[in-house]
Amino acid sequence: VKKAVTEVPGALPVHVAIIMDGNGRWARERGKPRSAGHREGAKALNRLVPASIELGIKYLTVFAFSVDNWRRPSAEVSFLMGLLRRYIRAETPTLVEKGVRLRVIGDVSRLSEALQAGIARALSETAAGDKLNLTVALNYGGQEDVVQAARRIAAKVEKGILRASAVDKIVFEAELLSAGLPPVDLLIRTGAEMRLSNFLLYQCSYAELYFTEKYWPDFGKEDLAEALREFARRERRFGSLRKEE
Ligand code: IPE
Ligand code: IPE
Ligand code: MG
Repeated sequence: VKKAVTEVPGALPVHVAIIMDGNGRWARERGKPRSAGHREGAKALNRLVPASIELGIKYLTVFAFSVDNWRRPSAEVSFLMGLLRRYIRAETPTLVEKGVRLRVIGDVSRLSEALQAGIARALSETAAGDKLNLTVALNYGGQEDVVQAARRIAAKVEKGILRASAVDKIVFEAELLSAGLPPVDLLIRTGAEMRLSNFLLYQCSYAELYFTEKYWPDFGKEDLAEALREFARRERRFGSLRKEE
């Protein structure tokens, strides 16, 4: 029996961002170590990439490791770093084949040489992808992003190559790590928490927020489609009035 095509009528978000949360609780509920949850979380991302393409998403940004996740036990941090390194190496050919262009936002300089090398290779190998822009936020913090942008602008002003009065949103956004990405239309957080945890703070200014209790390892194409249907039902006003008024 052929499975029904997942249909999403109505307005589609251009840019979907996901806080992939709940790996640890997924594992605990199964009596497994947290690492098993992270491994299963990587598989969920593998499902979400083709699902996003099939559903017509152009930009997908996922939170893989925050600047605050270094506070976790070192064994978990090491496991996550190893998983990311293996993931990038193993999945790059598939990303290329699917037409995915990879991008990484965050301070990669704090990552191991091996991981940095893997990232650099994956970025260049996927550079021609034109089906989906996949951005992985790695050692990323929203406040840190805004602060580094301010620092870069201050440096330009100091050097005299930019006037302070010329700094507007366009100039500022060009210094954010997300430069070139459209604003986030839909922010999804799995794992039942209702907070942003220092994700794309500036970039989510008019994002529709969608929270689900599902843990990330259980999140699949149908869940993404449900979030897109909910997005289509929302009325975005951007400070204006309802259409009828
Ligand atoms: C999200 O799952 C993955 C990362 C933050 C790296 P968690 O590890 O935060 O899982 P919970 O929130 O403890 O269930
Ligand atoms: C946010 O999840 C970071 C990622 C999903 C990578 P956390 O699990 O770290 O967030 P808090 O600690 O619950 O706010
Ligand atoms: Mg968590």
